Amino acid sequence: MSATPPVRIALSRRGYPGLDDAPLPEGAELVLPDEGAPTDDAALRALAADCDGLVVSTPDRVDAELFDAAPRLKVVALVAVGFDNVDLDEARRRGIVVTHTPGVLADATADLAFSLILMARRLLVPALDTTRAGEWGAFDPQAFLGLQVAGATLGIVGYGDIGSAVGRRGAGFGMTVLQHSRSPRPEDGIAEAVGLDELLERSDVVSLNVPRTPETAGLIGARELDLLGPRGTLVSTARGGVVDEDALLAALREGRIHSAGLDVFATEPLTDAASPLLHEPRLVCLPHIGSASVETRTAMTRMALRNVTAVLSGDDAPNVVPPLRG
Ligand code: DGY
Repeated sequence: MSATPPVRIALSRRGYPGLDDAPLPEGAELVLPDEGAPTDDAALRALAADCDGLVVSTPDRVDAELFDAAPRLKVVALVAVGFDNVDLDEARRRGIVVTHTPGVLADATADLAFSLILMARRLLVPALDTTRAGEWGAFDPQAFLGLQVAGATLGIVGYGDIGSAVGRRGAGFGMTVLQHSRSPRPEDGIAEAVGLDELLERSDVVSLNVPRTPETAGLIGARELDLLGPRGTLVSTARGGVVDEDALLAALREGRIHSAGLDVFATEPLTDAASPLLHEPRLVCLPHIGSASVETRTAMTRMALRNVTAVLSGDDAPNVVPPLRG
């Protein structure tokens, strides 16, 4: 009689914080990419080939081709809350459970959204560049003259876990907080619910916190930026493609909005050093690091492995991805 093969769990990346003491099924084997190995689609297919579980991050594409290459796969666990990189219909069709990590990254991502707000509105990037270059000149009352965050109006588009965490930070800064979501959210005493156009017209600062769906693709274009207006700041820690980047660049260049901050881009990673996005003085660009704190990434890894363990032990996974809503 042949022995039952050990459960194999592939991880698309090395170095997930918290992996050492994450929950695992009894006797499970972890399959990791070699140090410095490519992380493209073909590499992921090869890694997952003989595995029962797969742990992935936002840049990993999980689609029919991957499922074809990994016929043993029973569960895909995202170390992420967003799941637009996964073909959910295909996974459902094949009975593969897909899980994600809701809740645990709200504070880290809201901290980053607020960092972008402060950096963009107070012109901190050019100020830092100037100081570092040893070019701090004689006092000039006009130098690095930004717009105030305290007391301004903050509009949050997508008022889920992350959006409401941004709202709490705004309230702490003495901001008036507005929110807009496609599905109505219960009043929380912090944010007034309004329509999208009203939110854009009334806000000084807008934070995007919606998932990427067909409905949110291109949600913010030239028209919406004009509603925000010349004293407005737009930040996004949502997903690339929610903002029309060409329209954003034009609005910044023409002074039709004041400033912007992006942690997410239509094309990631953004490796073209000549990209106009990286050279727009009033646009702060970060490399998709919303959840990048030790505490949060550790909690995300543990949650992902808990989900894998549940499925491979025949239990219900605690964090199966829900149906999409805006
Ligand atoms: C998420 O969890 O969706 C973040 O964007 C990190 O990828």
